Amino acid sequence: SPSDPDLVERARAAKEKLGDKVFVLGHHYQRDEVIQFADVTGDSFKLARDAAARPEAEYIVFCGVHFMAESADILTGDDQKVVLPDLAAGCSMADMATAEQVAECWDVLTEAGVAEQVVPVSYMNSSADIKAFTGKHGGTICTSSNAKRALDWAFEQGEKVLFLPDQHLGRNTAVRDMGMSLDDCVLYNPHKPNGGLTAEELRGAKMILWRGHCSVHGRFSLESVNDVRERVPGVNVLVHPECRHEVVAAADFVGSTEYIIKTLEAAPAGSKWAIGTELNLVRRLANRFAGEGKEIVFLDRTVCFCSTMNRIDLPHLVWTLESLAEGNLVNRIQVDQETESFAKLALERMLALP
Ligand code: 13P
Ligand code: SF4
Repeated sequence: SPSDPDLVERARAAKEKLGDKVFVLGHHYQRDEVIQFADVTGDSFKLARDAAARPEAEYIVFCGVHFMAESADILTGDDQKVVLPDLAAGCSMADMATAEQVAECWDVLTEAGVAEQVVPVSYMNSSADIKAFTGKHGGTICTSSNAKRALDWAFEQGEKVLFLPDQHLGRNTAVRDMGMSLDDCVLYNPHKPNGGLTAEELRGAKMILWRGHCSVHGRFSLESVNDVRERVPGVNVLVHPECRHEVVAAADFVGSTEYIIKTLEAAPAGSKWAIGTELNLVRRLANRFAGEGKEIVFLDRTVCFCSTMNRIDLPHLVWTLESLAEGNLVNRIQVDQETESFAKLALERMLALP
């Protein structure tokens, strides 16, 4: 949808007034009206790295969701302020693992006598508390672009991995990229006593998967894949690893948002693609590549936006930039010192992965 020209002009003016004091990061799932003001766009790994590489910016405006802004705060200097244009932009997957539940899980693993062998690997899509837990217990963070490397590293440190909070990224990486079997994985349900698992099941497992998922990517099904192959003969199916295992197993290519973009950039003219990820990104790519003769369709017939990513819209961005330009610090995301120090350990282990 075309952006309101008045708001576009106000955002431009406020950003110009702020100059080098502000750096705007935009995740690929953001709306076009917001993305046009991003100094850099990326997947969650690239954005974490780029936030850390801007020590001269006083304000980092993060157009993405809460856990991304927290990670940026952890990785930037104390005098840099990270701002999230709408504080209600959370992530339902990150909310599926709370600090209390994870502490309880660790007690269950200890009771079963396996905690000593377990290395936690937490997906970037988690709160700073979960990242701190991960750092404290010798684990690392991963994103969808380095999950295999993170798991390789973790299995050098211990015999088992507790992977949280996305069961699908954990399972897909273990089975598709590392040759494990589905039987090597067990599912820990934080809403059941002992996670719904016996001590024996925990002892037999290599991957202990937290029962979390992304509701946006959960909408894609095996039927969506079969359906699009029938509708569009010769189509390549390209999906994000947050999709369910049967979807990933039936796809031709699997990877992060940045990987999806790179793959389409390298695709030959005349090729056809069905993409299984959030709709703002898929629409942007369909428009961008239409002129090059690459046909890009959405994997499902239903509409699939990430409602929390979409909370960041042009009015919120204008309000944020104008407030900052007037010297009014709004919506700062600040992780407390103790949480930050342990969470940083885990994030730095990720940044140091080979
Ligand atoms: P990427 O790291 O692939 O951008 O994924 C982030 C995310 O939230 C996907 O739902
Ligand atoms: Fe979270 Fe899913 Fe939205 Fe990504 S797409 S931010 S995992 S709810």
